[in-house]
Amino acid sequence: MIERAYDVAQELSRAGEGPDGSEFHLGDCQEIARSLKEKYAGKVSLIYLDPPFQTGKKFEVRVRVGENEWKTGKGSLALEGYSDDLPRNEYLEMMKNVLTSAKALLKSDGLIFVHIDYRIHPYIRILMDEIFGESNFINEIIWSYHTGGCAKKHFPRKHDVILLYSKTKNYDLHLEDIAEPNPDGRVNHMKKHVDADGRVYRSIRSGGRTYTYYDDDPVIPGDVWDNMSHLQQKDPQRTGYDTQKPLRLLERIVKCASRPGDIVMDLFAGSGTTLEAAANNGRRFIGADLNPLSMQTSHRRLNNAHCLYKFAPFQGEPEVSARAERGVAFTRVELQKFMIEPGMSQRKFDGLDGVDAWAVGYLKNGLFHSFEREVRTHAKPRLTGKIEVPVYEGELMMRITDVFGRYFFYHISVDEIV
Ligand SMILES: C[S@@+](CC[C@H](N)C(=O)[O-])C[C@H]1O[C@@H](n2cnc3c(N)ncnc32)[C@H](O)[C@@H]1O
Repeated sequence: MIERAYDVAQELSRAGEGPDGSEFHLGDCQEIARSLKEKYAGKVSLIYLDPPFQTGKKFEVRVRVGENEWKTGKGSLALEGYSDDLPRNEYLEMMKNVLTSAKALLKSDGLIFVHIDYRIHPYIRILMDEIFGESNFINEIIWSYHTGGCAKKHFPRKHDVILLYSKTKNYDLHLEDIAEPNPDGRVNHMKKHVDADGRVYRSIRSGGRTYTYYDDDPVIPGDVWDNMSHLQQKDPQRTGYDTQKPLRLLERIVKCASRPGDIVMDLFAGSGTTLEAAANNGRRFIGADLNPLSMQTSHRRLNNAHCLYKFAPFQGEPEVSARAERGVAFTRVELQKFMIEPGMSQRKFDGLDGVDAWAVGYLKNGLFHSFEREVRTHAKPRLTGKIEVPVYEGELMMRITDVFGRYFFYHISVDEIV
């Protein structure tokens, strides 16, 4: 027997390994950044922000529905992502509020990267000079890519801008950690030699000293990043979230601007790229976004990370049935039915097709601790509808995430002792 729990507003996912203390907040970044100051002021090492660019567009999230779409990779449901259409003055007011809180959240040696494009670059540069101080400007990084259309009335636009500022002069940027072998070798005017092992090097004499550089030595990237492209349509990293950035871009930022155990923050988390880059590199992360599909997409990507998810309880009345049986040391829950309520979509959902993921665990002090979960993936497109958890303290509970990104919680009572 199950009963809907309407007031659960937080879930702790404790899966796999990784540092404790990561969080995802669903809501407006201005309010979240303001409220996070109470606990995290002066504690965050790196903040990356990839806000809307004032494109005037409506962005979509394409979600796969049911076993067949996950298995074949064909078909998806296009859902409303976010509308990038705030009037300029409201947009700049939002950015001012977020950047002001971001400064307070940063550690004294912390760094902030703000990812924008030609549309808002001049406004944000001035805003950041005002908030962080002109003298704390470090770099204007150009992320150059080859994708994007052709143009006849202007040069095709093939780059984004990432502004890098510090909080103080004493910042922690360790570029040696992102040095990469240069695939083209060094091309310059220095004299070329080959050493006894066949390695090519260049040398130059200056001020009475000889400087030697090997062609295959790793080099620190300059401020034009042109060796990582936008995700292609068929890239396996693609989550269906419009405007998703490549993981490699975020890994570069995370590695040079934070250290293991540090807190990395992204207040426009989108598909969760920054959070995944942080988790992959042993950093704690704090993410926020106002779109439930961002929480769902991030949760799916962070399935193996410890994370506290905070949100307002979701509206909606799907039809659900489940049963539970208890053994000596375990409880087995079977999800029998999940029907999305009429009016949500024209689409028909068969069986458990409306379920994107579900989890079973225990409710303790208003917090759902998720123990075991099933998530649809390309590798495992089918949900078995059966989850076993160890018998534990707290109230047995189940969470279902539907394809619209809504999280529903249910108290479960045991129907049978086996
Ligand atoms: C450009 S996307 C971020 C993409 C992300 N970097 C990625 O790799 O997937 C911008 C995100 O900002 C979110 N957003 C827009 N306005 C917001 C606000 N006021 N508070 C929180 N999130 C907001 C949108 O929902 C969207 O997910």
